Amino acid sequence: MSTTPERIIPRRTVHCGDALPWLRAGGVRTGAALVTSLPDISEVGKPERDWRAWFTDAVGCVVHATPPASVALFFQSDVRHEDHWIDKGALVVAAGAAVGAHVVFHRIVCRFEPGRAVRGRPTYTHLIALSRALPARAGDGMPDVITEPGRAVWPRAMGIKAAALAIRFARDETGAHTIIDPFCGAGTVLAVANALGLHAEGVDLSARCCARARALAIERSELDDSAAFRAPPRDGGSSRRTAGDRR
Ligand SMILES: C[S@@+](CC[C@H](N)C(=O)[O-])C[C@H]1O[C@@H](n2cnc3c(N)ncnc32)[C@H](O)[C@@H]1O
Repeated sequence: MSTTPERIIPRRTVHCGDALPWLRAGGVRTGAALVTSLPDISEVGKPERDWRAWFTDAVGCVVHATPPASVALFFQSDVRHEDHWIDKGALVVAAGAAVGAHVVFHRIVCRFEPGRAVRGRPTYTHLIALSRALPARAGDGMPDVITEPGRAVWPRAMGIKAAALAIRFARDETGAHTIIDPFCGAGTVLAVANALGLHAEGVDLSARCCARARALAIERSELDDSAAFRAPPRDGGSSRRTAGDRR
């Protein structure tokens, strides 16, 4: 009889539609963590006040779909709108607090090398982990500043190495076996989750994005990175994790 452990074949499902009713209808997603990037004001086509209310509602829906001891991870870039900046990090934190979620960590992902001055979009993205029960110490192994985000598959995408860092965190700190991205775009999170051996489920309003998200393939070899999330051992080294990448 073979003693080789069964190899997990990761699934990917992509739904085309509005994420908010989909999130509300499905309740808490047992065994999952959510990793996402909510659309910008320019993508939603609403006046700022309405977009802010929509964004707050969307963060609440994401948190409610996340099991209490699991995590919802948001990649969000600030944006200049008319004559002021919209701080999306502040919006995520406030919207999470309104539905009982605290900040497990708040990190910075560099889009370019630190120190570069640019016009327009900032050179950094917020990476914020919210949870209703996961303690903040769970984030101790996450670098404060993530300087190597990896390639982005389209201009609105998060880098694939930064996505891998977030997904490894969710897997190793919460035991999540499925990663959900309700605003999946071209499918970065889904493809990275599959490359790391996890099931993935995504939603997007755009049929074009859904088609890309179903097809996107990312090689595991592209994700290996010495700066990857590695939580320090707890209690003299008796950390429960180390599931490791499954493929
Ligand atoms: C910032 S992009 C996500 C990018 C993605 N993380 C990637 O790496 O490709 C936001 C996505 O949200 C989608 N979107 C906008 N409104 C939506 C809604 N109500 N429900 C689901 N998707 C929506 C847009 O089509 C867009 O693809």
